[in-house]
Amino acid sequence: MPPETAYHDALGHHFARHADVSPYNAYTDRPAMLELAGEVSGLRILDVGCGAGHYAAELLTRGADVVAVDGSSTLLDHARTRVGEQATLLLHDLEKPLDFAADASFDGVVCALVLHHVTRRAQLLTELRRVLRPGGWLLMSTTHPAADWQHFGGSYFAEDWVDLSLGGGPHSIRFQRMPLETFLGEAMSAGFTLERLVEPRPVPALREIDEPAYDRLHQKPSFLTVRLRRL
Ligand SMILES: C[S@@+](CC[C@H](N)C(=O)[O-])C[C@H]1O[C@@H](n2cnc3c(N)ncnc32)[C@H](O)[C@@H]1O
Repeated sequence: MPPETAYHDALGHHFARHADVSPYNAYTDRPAMLELAGEVSGLRILDVGCGAGHYAAELLTRGADVVAVDGSSTLLDHARTRVGEQATLLLHDLEKPLDFAADASFDGVVCALVLHHVTRRAQLLTELRRVLRPGGWLLMSTTHPAADWQHFGGSYFAEDWVDLSLGGGPHSIRFQRMPLETFLGEAMSAGFTLERLVEPRPVPALREIDEPAYDRLHQKPSFLTVRLRRL
C-alpha cells in the first residue's frame, strides 16, 4: 500500500508546480534550509520526502552526492525529470525502516516539510540517526506551531491531524500539528542536539514578484527550520 500521506497523482502534480514558485516553499523554506546546509561539496546526503527534487537538484549543483526518497511515484517522476540520472531516487514509505541504507552511510540528511506527515516519527528519527555518521547533520523544517495555532485554533498544545489547502487551491494535505516542545523534544530524544533554529522569512527576490506576500510572511511565521547534530 502506498503511504496515505504521500502526495499522489493530481496532488503530486499540483505540489510540484507549487514548490517551483510558491512564496512559502521557493522563497521561504527552501532558501533557509539550503543556507543551514552550508558547504556540501563532496558530502553524501539523504533527502527524505524529496518531493519534486528541488533540494536534490540544488544539492547536486553544489557538489553533493544525493540519495532521495519519497512515497509518491508521481513526485519521484518529477524529481527524475529534474535531476536525471545524477541522483539515486527511491520509492519508499517513511513509516518503514530505511532498510536501503547502511549504518553511518550519510554525512547529512534533509527532511523538508515531511516529519509532520509521518505517524511513526520516533522510528523515523531513530533511523535517520542510524544512517548518519557520528557528527553528521540533520536539517528539518516543519509548519510553524504558532501559524498552525492561528489557522486551526483550539489549544496551542494540540497534536491533532489537520487538513490544509495547499496554496489556497483545491488540493489539501494532511499532517499532524504539534507544539515546539514536541517537534524538538522528539529529535533530542532520538539522539540529536540543536545547532541552529531559524524562523525563516522570505528572501528579497519575492518582493520583486509578490510584494504583499513578502510583507505578510515577514510578519507572520510560516515554518520552523532546524539544524541538528547527530550525537
Ligand atoms: C511538503 S512535501 C515536501 C517535499 C520536499 N521535501 C520539498 O520541500 O520540496 C512532503 C513530501 O513528503 C512526502 N511524504 C508524505 N508522507 C510520506 C511517507 N509516509 N513516506 C514517504 N514520503 C512521504 C510527500 O509525498 C511529499 O513529497
